[in-house]
Amino acid sequence: MLIQFDAKTRQFHLTNRAFSYILGIAENGVPVQVYCGAPLSAGRAYPLLDPIPFAGFSNNDKAIARFEYPAYGSGDFRQSAFSARFSDGGAVAEPRYQSHKICRGKPGIPGLPATYTENEGEAETLELELRDTPSGLTVILYYTMFAGANTLARRARFVNLGNGEVILESAMSLSLDLPDPRWNAVTLTGSWAREFQRDDVPLRPGFQGIASRRGVSGAQTNPALVLRRSGTTGYSGEALGVSLVYSGNFTIDVEVDQWDIARLRAGINPDTFSWSLEPGASFDTPEAILAWSDEGLNGLSSQFHRLYRSRLARGAWRDAGRPVLLNNWEGTYFHFTEPKILAMARAAKDLGIELFVLDDGWFGKRDDDRSSLGDWFPHRGKLPDGVAALARKITAMGLKFGLWIEPEMVSPDSELFRARPDWAVGVPGRERTEQRFQYVLDMGRREIVDHLFEVLSGIIGGADISYIKWDMNRFLTEPYSLSLPPERQGEFFHRYVLGVYDLYARLTRAFPDILFESCSSGGGRFDPGLLAFAPQGWLSDDTDALERLIIQEGASLIYPPSSMGCHVSAVPNHQTGRVAPLHFRAMTAFFGSLGYELDPATLTEAEWEAVKKQIAFYKTRRKTFQYGVFSRLVSPLDTDSRRAAWMVRSPDGDEAIVGVYKILSNPNQKPWRLPLAGLDSAAEYAVTVWEAGGYDETDAALNCGTRGGDELMRAGLLLECTLRNTPKPGDFFSELFLLDKIPLDEE
Ligand code: DGJ
Repeated sequence: MLIQFDAKTRQFHLTNRAFSYILGIAENGVPVQVYCGAPLSAGRAYPLLDPIPFAGFSNNDKAIARFEYPAYGSGDFRQSAFSARFSDGGAVAEPRYQSHKICRGKPGIPGLPATYTENEGEAETLELELRDTPSGLTVILYYTMFAGANTLARRARFVNLGNGEVILESAMSLSLDLPDPRWNAVTLTGSWAREFQRDDVPLRPGFQGIASRRGVSGAQTNPALVLRRSGTTGYSGEALGVSLVYSGNFTIDVEVDQWDIARLRAGINPDTFSWSLEPGASFDTPEAILAWSDEGLNGLSSQFHRLYRSRLARGAWRDAGRPVLLNNWEGTYFHFTEPKILAMARAAKDLGIELFVLDDGWFGKRDDDRSSLGDWFPHRGKLPDGVAALARKITAMGLKFGLWIEPEMVSPDSELFRARPDWAVGVPGRERTEQRFQYVLDMGRREIVDHLFEVLSGIIGGADISYIKWDMNRFLTEPYSLSLPPERQGEFFHRYVLGVYDLYARLTRAFPDILFESCSSGGGRFDPGLLAFAPQGWLSDDTDALERLIIQEGASLIYPPSSMGCHVSAVPNHQTGRVAPLHFRAMTAFFGSLGYELDPATLTEAEWEAVKKQIAFYKTRRKTFQYGVFSRLVSPLDTDSRRAAWMVRSPDGDEAIVGVYKILSNPNQKPWRLPLAGLDSAAEYAVTVWEAGGYDETDAALNCGTRGGDELMRAGLLLECTLRNTPKPGDFFSELFLLDKIPLDEE
């Protein structure tokens, strides 16, 4: 049993024996937060954790109560979990306990992506019904506790059971009052080409947080916030994370009040949201995932990874080895012909690549980024025989074929815009802002989503396509929908996101065998919402290997390696101008879903051979790289060390791979001990280096051979003991250690 209710104390205890979450119902029916953290014994009540029975604000109780879903207007002056305007103009609400039910499994959310169970034994869900009696507004809070991961899914449904209209002005997915503010907030912020930069600052009194108002979750702030204790490291200490399964405007914030209570909230950004509920109507918030670990930040990440990899991602590609691909974007940009593409594909095949992806520029009359979005028919100047014929030629080589699309957009210079200028988002009578010479289609309108489904189904269904890269290259400005009456314009942004999800759902249902990859100028909409449809995403347009060490490490706080599209690109790198060695580039890209993004014709003979070896090697360890348990051993952000190290171990524990990155070469370097993690301490491992990648003789001599799991975890690898008179490896040196568990009967 994962959820217990104690009728005497009116406490609910949600626990999978590795994580506990307790809430109670106060005397006056208000749900209060009791506990969230390390597991407490099941089958007991915890009245002492909730020392001051909350009966209302009138008895001068200092308002130190910790609430589950605080309402506006009754004496709790902190940010509320929701606010609603009623037909009398008032906004005061006091939802009180009405009933509850506990069921096995996890119900879905209409129109929204969410985590799921494959059988009912995997989770239990508490539905807590609250009622604001004067208005008839009902709030149902959903809590799903998973058996196999320290994760709790939360969300809310609002139902207007009254007689008048209710306008929801804010509706959080989660609100959680933590009893103390002694946490550091870790967030992933950035911009185009420098997404997922980890920021780590102590909480301070007052209001703080991250948010998006761009219409997408955004490269500026990924929708996740992790709280860690000041002493929490990679492997030890407490951490609590919240991640929002949503792709639009959001807020994740923390308010530390005068009693040292830290209120954590996550949900749709109320600044750009309102929603009208006529009598009988309902509204569902997106889902927020709360994860907890006392095994440090790696422990927390692995909770998110496990859930997102196996119970958020879905479909044929969820557990399948992702193909090694060649994408033509950086190799050609818009300037390609069919013979050029076929030559690239032939080369790709020779290199061992499995999928060729034709990026932007194949449609309409698109020779640069100034035209044709919306005109989803082949550019006859480049592809005289069309997409289907090209796909046929490429698949005949023994490769799979993939195609880039950007469905949500329309270029002012396009047949679509000339025919349907009213489909582009904008306020009548006002100018529209162009970004990258394009406008956004109003995805909140059913007829537009229908049109896109029809046109894209034609293209995708009419050719032998195995992969779709769905891009989105601008933000939403001048938010306004012609399909909404003036008083409902506050619904625009959320309706846009629902339209995107609808199109994704329809296309992925219609083409269940196609691998979808999401993209938004790189990681501008890399979020759990899209992961539910597209099991991998293009993480960043920045393919520089050093930058990628930082970006991939940041993203790994929440997202599993299988979800990260990681490409080896040409040097000098197009984003930074840096020249990193080929093996350093590959060894960074290995820790995700590997691809190449260059013109193979530019490779020297030696590079060609090296790429072949990389691909052949990656395929032999693909499942471990993509689906293994990933750990950050040494962070590249630790600039003093100028070192980084990652590790991944296969789910069955039989093999592990350690990537060692010596970013800058140091003179007379001190020896570097690198303790590994997650091995079987009683087992022995055959340690080798991947020779084709380049390695340091001394590192190999000191570490290769049969080593105990305990030795590798306690003493670790011993690196950089190179003698002073041996050749120096130079900057950007990397090596890969392979650990294969020796079966007991071989010992
Ligand atoms: C932005 C993407 O991130 C790139 O990979 C590429 O697909 C371009 N868009 C194409 O316009």
